[in-house]
Amino acid sequence: MKIITIIGARPQFIKAALVSQELKKQGIEEVILHTGQHYDKNMSDIFFTQLGIPAPKYNLEIKANLHGEMTGKMLMGIEEVMLKETPDMTLVYGDTNSTLAAALASRKLNIPIAHVEAGLRNFNFMIPEDVNRTLTDRISDILFCPTNTAVQNLMEEGFAKFPCEVIKTDDIMADSVNIFSKMILQNPNLVSKEILEICKNEFLLCTVHRQESTSKQALPIIVEALNYISNEKNIIFPIHPRTKKLCAELDIQFNKNVIVIDPVGYFDMQYLLNATSGVITDSGGLQKEAYLHSKYSLLLMSYTPWVELVSNKVSVTTEIDSDAILNNYNNFKKLSGNFDQYLYGKGEARVQIVQALKSYLQNQ
Ligand code: UD1
Ligand code: UDP
Repeated sequence: MKIITIIGARPQFIKAALVSQELKKQGIEEVILHTGQHYDKNMSDIFFTQLGIPAPKYNLEIKANLHGEMTGKMLMGIEEVMLKETPDMTLVYGDTNSTLAAALASRKLNIPIAHVEAGLRNFNFMIPEDVNRTLTDRISDILFCPTNTAVQNLMEEGFAKFPCEVIKTDDIMADSVNIFSKMILQNPNLVSKEILEICKNEFLLCTVHRQESTSKQALPIIVEALNYISNEKNIIFPIHPRTKKLCAELDIQFNKNVIVIDPVGYFDMQYLLNATSGVITDSGGLQKEAYLHSKYSLLLMSYTPWVELVSNKVSVTTEIDSDAILNNYNNFKKLSGNFDQYLYGKGEARVQIVQALKSYLQNQ
């Protein structure tokens, strides 16, 4: 049994880490291909080191600004590797361009595809991730859904009729938070000195990187709101390279209470999440991790596919408009949901996923 795992961006490294360990435990060979979509040390290497992910056998080193160029080059590179490796199955995570390219390359070669984090929807094809995950789902053979809403979305799209398996599992990020956060809190020496120092004072934690937030219109509005909010509470802002580039280009200035730092590794991020008094983000992963750390969040997006966060009153969404952000910041301060409902399961996703992969492959 040989599985090829295709990953390329920060959240995918995190999602793949524990599944990779479990595959090894179950004696399933895994070949890892890194597309190169994320390449800075603190956007890529640091996660492999910290989370013990085996070094990729292949790194395509594809860096491109245009989505078509990036996806097309990945498709070609992945196809070449698949022809050489002849895996029994392709494993993909989430909703990035790397996910779509891997799924497409695999389908064209008739290699079955397993998609972790299937069924999430924004119902908006202006959002590149929504295109990537919808198309990936449609051509996948095993769809691992982390929420009941994700299963329901697929059923409403007719997946019950398609030749695929839809499987509800826990969310793999809950496994990671359970395992790694405990480890970090017991060993603060795994955390950088800078972050230990920051965590001595009260702060809000913020990240911004999505295409919708990093337009020339949206980013100045977001930063203006952050500057305003920071008069009330310091904001720690590990800045994504994409956001940093646009801030420089537009000469966007942060108030001194917005402390902008480089992207941090997973351990530092979990420590920040544990210490923060709340999260402001447009990140899919971080909004769930906020919940897993029992922290309320203000989501810089008008709709989140993680709908249970909003219905359980632990997150509030916002349009990107100055008044709306500040109004919803006030709503965020009034959030009162509780965090004991295991919205993302009890941390068994990696076992559920690998068991299902194993039985699928045994029955081929
Ligand atoms: C990508 C994913 C998004 C995911 C995010 C995780 C797509 C369409 N988007 O968005 O779903 O939430 O990753 O972080 O796949 N850059 C660097 N160094 C790096 C990586 C990126 O400088 O290591 C800069 C480059 O200028 C690049 C830009 O960031 O062009 C955007 O990177 P890209 O991977 O295209 O999109 P993300 O916003 O990271
Ligand atoms: N993350 C991190 N360091 C950072 C920012 C994010 O380790 O500086 C982690 C975060 O804890 C979460 C994941 O990266 O596990 C989320 O990735 P990102 O926000 O890049 O993408 P998304 O989840 O929106 O696809």
